[in-house]
Amino acid sequence: MPRSRHDRSTRWVCQQCGYESPGFYGRCPSCGAWNSLVETVIVDRPSSSSGRHRTSVHAVPLAQVTSAGERRLPIGLGEFDRVLGGGLVPGALILLGGDPGIGKSTLLLQAAGNVANRIGSVLYIAAEESAEQVKLRADRIGVDADQLYLLPETSLTAALDVAQALKPRVVIVDSIQTVFVEELASSPGTVSQVRECTARLMRYAKEAHVPVFLVGHVTKEGVIAGPRVVEHMVDAVLYLEGERFHQYRVLRAVKNRFGSTDEVGVFEMADHGLQEVGNPSGVFLEQRLHDAPGSAVIVTLEGTRPILIEVQALTSPVGYAMPRRTATGFDLNRLQLLVAVLQKRLGYRLGHHDIFVNVTGGLRVVEPAADLGVAVAIASSFTERPVRDDTVLIGEIGLSGELRSVSGLDRRLQEAASLGFQRAVIPPLSERNQVLTNRLPLTVISARTVAEAITLSLAEASPTVSLQDDVEAEA
Ligand code: TYD
Ligand code: MG
Repeated sequence: MPRSRHDRSTRWVCQQCGYESPGFYGRCPSCGAWNSLVETVIVDRPSSSSGRHRTSVHAVPLAQVTSAGERRLPIGLGEFDRVLGGGLVPGALILLGGDPGIGKSTLLLQAAGNVANRIGSVLYIAAEESAEQVKLRADRIGVDADQLYLLPETSLTAALDVAQALKPRVVIVDSIQTVFVEELASSPGTVSQVRECTARLMRYAKEAHVPVFLVGHVTKEGVIAGPRVVEHMVDAVLYLEGERFHQYRVLRAVKNRFGSTDEVGVFEMADHGLQEVGNPSGVFLEQRLHDAPGSAVIVTLEGTRPILIEVQALTSPVGYAMPRRTATGFDLNRLQLLVAVLQKRLGYRLGHHDIFVNVTGGLRVVEPAADLGVAVAIASSFTERPVRDDTVLIGEIGLSGELRSVSGLDRRLQEAASLGFQRAVIPPLSERNQVLTNRLPLTVISARTVAEAITLSLAEASPTVSLQDDVEAEA
């Protein structure tokens, strides 16, 4: 009797990539991982999409398809809407990933409160926390909305039934790793559960034209726990990033079918939730110590948005031990490359120094335009000479120590000028850029090499230590 309605079958599912096979392989034929296939019991429901009786399948002329662009629902959190590409698209399935405790639930609860107050009902499926816990958080961040419905439920089938009846404008599932469908024998958070739950939520989103948010935890390796395939299934993947013990959070789109992946939103975690940071450059530079060696200001471009950030470096002599290179918010390999360039092209004896580099505010800078700032910060710390206070640094460094041009130079320079910086040390300019920069209210200085740039950026040598002394002393 128990098997009469369901057709149970066993599959082997790769825990790395989600590949399914009817038989066992020691090595996944899809992604090549060893010992990654796990036996999973799958129950094909009679109502699954393949078996469903479809009557009205027809193609639609492109011209008759209404564009979703005009029907976006703005959440009302400017920074969030910016990352989404101007608001929520009906039927969109959006994955919000991030480390535990970074603020995913906080952000979505704030968004839910806004939508509930401005647009209509929101269903918040709390699969990790009780309704009381969510209520406590809501009180803390001042979210109070009649139209916000909480559902502490881990059974996705039950939750979707509620959604069908409630007909909310937005659904939030917190988190995709804790909901489950009864038909699958495996426990919540396993590849098959996460996949099946995502698939059902996608079906719901598309059929009901309701945007659905999924919260996804990130594993130590930095990928959303569960199969990569979830990232392929959803329409948009957003990451909330930042250092847990810093107040700033950056919301970044790594995939967005309805907008660009260029934009970032900047928030500050305060006592009462995430506050939008409209002017990130000013905020990130607030705590900068003037005249301190080892600190440089760079201009990174996050999408179309230039942001000024302080980069700090500390070099400190070690005796016999292997010197350490540590980077926070900056790529370690890139740091090692820059150190090698400083050693080889400028003769800096960094072989007996630990080097620590830190991007302040808990931000992560990935673009090579930050190279020059990092190199100058290291040089500044090594020579104990502060970087000139009125100067920003922009430029990629090549292996020969040459400075290479970067994109969006005019936007970067404009932002630096608007924050009161008077000098910018940059790579050699093309003629077109020369014209652009002539109109800016700051002095633009081109340097061909990192050596030139360092000379142009550092303030006068302090009376006690000079670069030459230091280099000679080590030699
Ligand atoms: P949370 O949204 O629960 O993180 P996630 O869902 O990503 O796991 O946020 C947890 C952290 O945020 C927690 O350490 C406390 C902090 N926090 C604040 O600082 N201010 C606030 O107003 C709230 C709600 C949380
Ligand atoms: Mg949470």
